[in-house]
Amino acid sequence: MTPDTLDPRIAKLREMRERSRQGGGEERVQQQRARGKLTARERLELLLDPGSFREIDAFVTNRTTGIGMSNHRYLTDGVVTGWGTIDGRLVYVYSQDFTILGGSLGAAHASKIVKIQDMALKNGAPIIGINDSGGARIQEGLASLVGYSEIFLRNTLSSGVIPQISAIMGPCAGGAVYSPALTDFIFMVKNNSYMFLTGPDVVKAVTHEDVTFEQLGGAMVHNTISGVAHFAAESEGDCLFLIRRLLSYLPSNNMEDPPRVKNSDDPLRTDEELDRIVPDNPNKPYDMKEVITRIVDMGTFFEVQEHYATNIIVGFARLGGQTVGIVANQPAVLAGVLDIKASEKAARFVRFCDAFNIPIVTFEDVPGFLPGVAQEHGGIIRSGAKLLYAYCEATVPKITVITRKAYGGAYCVLNPRATRGDLVLAWPSAELAVMGAEGAVSIIYRREIAAAEDPVAKKAELVRQYEEEVTNPWVAAQYGFIDDIIEPHETRPRLINALQMLRNKRDSNPPRKHGNIPL
Ligand code: HXC
Repeated sequence: MTPDTLDPRIAKLREMRERSRQGGGEERVQQQRARGKLTARERLELLLDPGSFREIDAFVTNRTTGIGMSNHRYLTDGVVTGWGTIDGRLVYVYSQDFTILGGSLGAAHASKIVKIQDMALKNGAPIIGINDSGGARIQEGLASLVGYSEIFLRNTLSSGVIPQISAIMGPCAGGAVYSPALTDFIFMVKNNSYMFLTGPDVVKAVTHEDVTFEQLGGAMVHNTISGVAHFAAESEGDCLFLIRRLLSYLPSNNMEDPPRVKNSDDPLRTDEELDRIVPDNPNKPYDMKEVITRIVDMGTFFEVQEHYATNIIVGFARLGGQTVGIVANQPAVLAGVLDIKASEKAARFVRFCDAFNIPIVTFEDVPGFLPGVAQEHGGIIRSGAKLLYAYCEATVPKITVITRKAYGGAYCVLNPRATRGDLVLAWPSAELAVMGAEGAVSIIYRREIAAAEDPVAKKAELVRQYEEEVTNPWVAAQYGFIDDIIEPHETRPRLINALQMLRNKRDSNPPRKHGNIPL
């Protein structure tokens, strides 16, 4: 062999690699583009740091011969797998290739995903799955279902150990939806992704309802109505960027602390606007998102499930460069009341933060749980208990800031001292009691009000008296139920100081196989 002739074995390797890169072929790649979608590899290029992707199993093909499958020996078997870095940190990835048999999942395809899941778990790094698939590969029958089951098992075993993220960038139907559903966060792309158990045709046959794919399981349906998804991206590029952003807040696994990020926002910065943000009239709303963004490191608030159960806000942010999970009532929506959806949304978020060593900061302004037959019959008792349970079992640093109302059972749920809250701060506008003054005097002074010459004036007087004597923060401070009353403008430095104070917090729960959260 002369120096300028290529070793045929290397030539074969190059040729095979090139074939593998071609996926289902040029025609199908063009069809993919015509649907407004990127290819499986292009997605990984955008997701990962440039040049960091290392592929494995590029030469895997399906192993079945039934129903014409021997004519379909595509390299990769419809899923590209490997690892790379995001902001220099290791992540494992798989990206389904719709150009090969519609990205459908057969035994070989499944075993590639399983291999990556095992590696991610063993090496303690996040896994990101990009889903674009027609579901179980029909030709492979039960082997496909076995493959799914193996994936579901690993999703479950990895839960709370490594962050698991799913991006939906095309179809995700049938039982296939359960892998994303078992992961921590689901990203969907508007107008080009959908998730459902049974498609529009089956729905029509069974319930006679006429729906499109988008109406049944599109991105906004799962981000606003079902709460299955956590993020709705404008485009695939936007989606991949959002995943990178989310990961910047998270540790690689449950044994690590979240990364600290230097930023220029002064930890001692105060904000006088906060002193004026809560209206004098307790029935007037204000925007809790403004409170959050004024307090956390500039530009770091990253909201999760922003379109779902908007009466509660959850998301990540940084305070003094440290990741925190924010849970906040939103008085601008339904007066910030807790209902079934809000309780479940917040409970899941609290548990995620606890699993991954992320301190929780709660901003509380809650008039109570939402009354009503629909809520009671829908199981608000069980849903509220989920949130209560999540806060009670959490052992990460837990800080509460009561900006206004902290009433009734909702007070008990939202991290008071008594359920292992580490620090409870109140603004002077805080109102803490079993219920609001109006309701309270109507019950305890019913007879006096009825007997009064002017019942309206009498009630007003009693309400004033109740507010002075009961609902203000001073009573709670006297008893030590809250740790301090602070001026709103100093909230940021106080929280950063509290997080430093709690940095070495150690707490644990009694040994047990696992608790029994009221699911
Ligand atoms: C094998 C499949 C496939 C599948 C699609 N293809 N889905 N091959 N098994 N499940 C193939 C098609 O035959 C076609 O091959 C190519 O992928 C592209 O599909 P199209 O239909 O041309 O694309 P499109 O019009 O965009 O429609 C996409 C689709 C549709 C909506 C996903 O393909 C579809 O309805 N597929 C079946 C979905 C389904 O019922 N899956 C099983 C779900 S049950 P050619 O060669 O023509 O290009 C399930 C159970 C899992 O997943 C249980 C786990 C517990």
